[in-house]
Amino acid sequence: MRKKIVAGNWKMNLDYNEGLALFSEVVNMVKDEITGSQITVVCSPYIHLHSLAQLAKGYDKVAIGAQNAHQNESGAYTGEISAKMVRSTGAEYVILGHSERRQYFGEDNQLLAAKTDTALKNGLKPIFCIGETLEEREADQHFDVIKTQLKEGLGHLSTEQFEQVVIAYEPVWAIGTGKTASAEQAQEIHAFIRNEIAEAYNQEVADNTTILYGGSCNPKNAPELFAQADIDGGLIGGASLKSRDFTDIVKVFN
Ligand code: PGA
Repeated sequence: MRKKIVAGNWKMNLDYNEGLALFSEVVNMVKDEITGSQITVVCSPYIHLHSLAQLAKGYDKVAIGAQNAHQNESGAYTGEISAKMVRSTGAEYVILGHSERRQYFGEDNQLLAAKTDTALKNGLKPIFCIGETLEEREADQHFDVIKTQLKEGLGHLSTEQFEQVVIAYEPVWAIGTGKTASAEQAQEIHAFIRNEIAEAYNQEVADNTTILYGGSCNPKNAPELFAQADIDGGLIGGASLKSRDFTDIVKVFN
């Protein structure tokens, strides 16, 4: 059975002490709430990773992730962080292809394919983000956009490699806008994604892939979204910065 995942994406928020304080609160609140095949992942800025991984020891259903990693193994890339460095902190996941990285840092599908390879090689599980912009949805191009992002970003992976990947569908128009996709809109895309995976690999691989929804997910809308057949949890931005809201979202699967 595929894993249910609620992942927090702190983005560029919280200094070192604030991050540790929030994480301690979250772990205390969620530790007895994570049931069955569910896990909770917190994706923090790099500065928190090692400390959070230490704090998460002993909680096998709480994992840590980064929000990016470089496509090259190492070298003269001042200011960058490699996948190996991320893994060495104890982090297990890395968000790749977040729309903010695509939009503000020019990350395209080809680059993301390379980042995925390097992350996997270094033992990180990618949370690979895909999603259409408002213009693309209004032009009725959303299925094509998703299909291309999947094919160009992940299409080259072997079955074994693909099994390490978590997909996050995040319609760009829903991120940080307070405008969430309706449960029907999200389910429609999630079913489409699962079908694309079945065609590229096989039905079993598709059935085992965790597909998250992201974009203004909160304790109010999460129950309806997570009740959809192909939605296996969420990638949570704003609401992951409030321990109560994040915990309430984790508890939706109880
Ligand atoms: P949001 O962000 O929940 O604040 O919309 C989601 C994300 O960007 O991952």
